[in-house]
Amino acid sequence: MTRSSLAKAWQPLQIGPVTLRNAFIKAATNENMARKGVPTRAMLEHHRELAKGGVGMSTMAYIAVEKTGRTLADQIWLRSAVVPELKAVTDAVHEAGGKISAQITHAGSFVTGTFVPAPLKSASSGVNAAGLLCGNVLRRAMNRRDMDEMVKRFVEGAQMCVEAGFDAVEIHMGHGYLLNQFISPMDNRRTDEYGGSAENRVRFPARVLRAVKEAVGDRIGVLAKINVDDGRSRGAHVEEAIVTAKSLQDAGADMLVLSGGRNVESNWFTFGSSMNLEAMMQVIGKWTLTGIAVASTARTAPKIAFKELYFWDYSTQIRAAVTLPLAYIGGVKSTANVAQIMEGGFEAVVMGRALLREPHLVRRWQDNPGVPSQCDNCNSCLAYIYHPAGIWCIHRPANELEKNQIPASKMY
Ligand SMILES: Cc1cc2nc3c(=O)[nH]c(=O)nc-3n(C[C@H](O)[C@H](O)[C@H](O)COP(=O)(O)O)c2cc1C
Repeated sequence: MTRSSLAKAWQPLQIGPVTLRNAFIKAATNENMARKGVPTRAMLEHHRELAKGGVGMSTMAYIAVEKTGRTLADQIWLRSAVVPELKAVTDAVHEAGGKISAQITHAGSFVTGTFVPAPLKSASSGVNAAGLLCGNVLRRAMNRRDMDEMVKRFVEGAQMCVEAGFDAVEIHMGHGYLLNQFISPMDNRRTDEYGGSAENRVRFPARVLRAVKEAVGDRIGVLAKINVDDGRSRGAHVEEAIVTAKSLQDAGADMLVLSGGRNVESNWFTFGSSMNLEAMMQVIGKWTLTGIAVASTARTAPKIAFKELYFWDYSTQIRAAVTLPLAYIGGVKSTANVAQIMEGGFEAVVMGRALLREPHLVRRWQDNPGVPSQCDNCNSCLAYIYHPAGIWCIHRPANELEKNQIPASKMY
């Protein structure tokens, strides 16, 4: 590790028109800190704490671009009524010296927590395994009109994010959500120009990105989160991810965040380790619909031992193939990892679990770079996206439930 490559991570970073104070980005980790689609005081304090702790930019997870694009019932969907509450969060982050991005997405057929009384929109039609337990049995292939409408939803959503004071949007194209349902051959069986080759499968997500960039790219950063690999043999692999990355580069992305795996079929791949079934059952309950779904997928999942920088081999192949800024994600645990990421030519370091464990990790590393993250990869935090008090690392003081029941702007 060279001192200068580590120091680079603390230099200001440009993402489109926005300058971050450093290259550390908090990954989107579903906070469960919204009620009836409105961010709570807990959400505000969560992101403010990360800003105080030194991250260049935090990411508010999973904001749907329309109501039926939510996976879970309380998730935020973009509409003018929610803008002032989102603004309360972005103002608090800015006052603490940080920046904040909105992860915008649409679940497509991955709606597991609410019933939608019509077949769900996706790349292709058929039985919808992901939604079976909550009654969303069928999905249908989006037609031209649906696609035009969806592009509009993303553009209008991004415009509302600008109004709400966000510094960037991260369009989620990974993990099995709608745009990933186009990119991945696991869902996309289309025979038109939006299906077949990897070039065709990314055509619609690239259209969305281009339209968002044209609409708001002069005011905020436009990022996309993609899969480097789906983690399943019948999914998309790194050669296809390279095609995806090139296409999004041509569409004008300011930065790509390189993740992997699919929420239903290969969640262990996203986390480079097995789920913590015990914590899941404790929080969710064994006999709830989600509990049954989680337990049945966990039974067939391979047992994987955590390894630092577990997406390194995939991500470096993408780094070699494109020139746009790239953000490394997956198993960052130490300043040695950070230096390696900078030396590998990545522009940003994205962390999820390490920052849930220690929201002030970036500041701590500035003072004490030799001590690695205290996150032990127990993956209990994943269970707490279903807890009424919101996301939590079990090694930290518990969240106050009341703060997750009042809107963000309400003083507590
Ligand atoms: C509790 C939890 C919730 C997550 N929720 C989301 C999410 O809403 N959207 C998303 O894109 N990724 C989500 N992720 C994945 C992270 O963004 C990230 O890709 C993953 O945790 C790997 O990074 P890490 O090794 O630094 O934790 C979540 C991760 C965790 C631990």
